[in-house]
Amino acid sequence: MSKPMLQVALDTLEIPAALKATRALAAEVDVLEVGTILCYAQGAKIVAILRALYPDQIILADLKAADAGTTVAEIVFSQGATWMTVICCAPYATMEAALAVAKKYQGDVQIELYGDWTFEQAEKWLEIGLTQVIYHRGRDAEFAGQKWGEADLAKIRKLAEMGFEVSVTGGLNPQDLEIFKGIPVKCFIAGRALYQADDPAQAARDFKQAINQHW
Ligand code: 5RP
Repeated sequence: MSKPMLQVALDTLEIPAALKATRALAAEVDVLEVGTILCYAQGAKIVAILRALYPDQIILADLKAADAGTTVAEIVFSQGATWMTVICCAPYATMEAALAVAKKYQGDVQIELYGDWTFEQAEKWLEIGLTQVIYHRGRDAEFAGQKWGEADLAKIRKLAEMGFEVSVTGGLNPQDLEIFKGIPVKCFIAGRALYQADDPAQAARDFKQAINQHW
């Protein structure tokens, strides 16, 4: 089983705060994510800024796109994104359209799993060529007290068995990672625990240490 990668989700409102975080974190993480919040606040130009600064890093644009797959994918892939996200309730046509643009740029599309989705839909995602999903405990669910549990682990395991590369996110801290032990996670994605840490680079090293300990 390969070691999970570490991804920082930049969910800041302002570009200087995002760049302060990447200065501390780019060398410590495997993937830079332009978080949904930053996409809303600043637009796709931040993808181009990060690509210019970090030409070799995987950059994810977390659009959680729901429609206009061709157009929104073109916006972020033409600015240098490696991956983008589409929300799981989007029409298959949107997923296919975004994926076609992604492939044109040698990139990929990840399906963001929020709210209600089914394994029947997941079979269809595989059929249309999607291989990456993000298993998500939403921020609002976290605030409402939802904890990681066996039901999450069973779904993540099943998605991996179906052939998906599964990334995991949602209010993660290094001590949370142990419960995912034994599951082939592609990336652990952390936002606040990294960019809001007093020492973000040390926080990233703590995540990496947990990954190395359990995988
Ligand atoms: C919210 C997101 C976040 O980027 C993701 O959950 C990681 O952030 P945090 O670790 O702060 O929860 O996609 O919709």
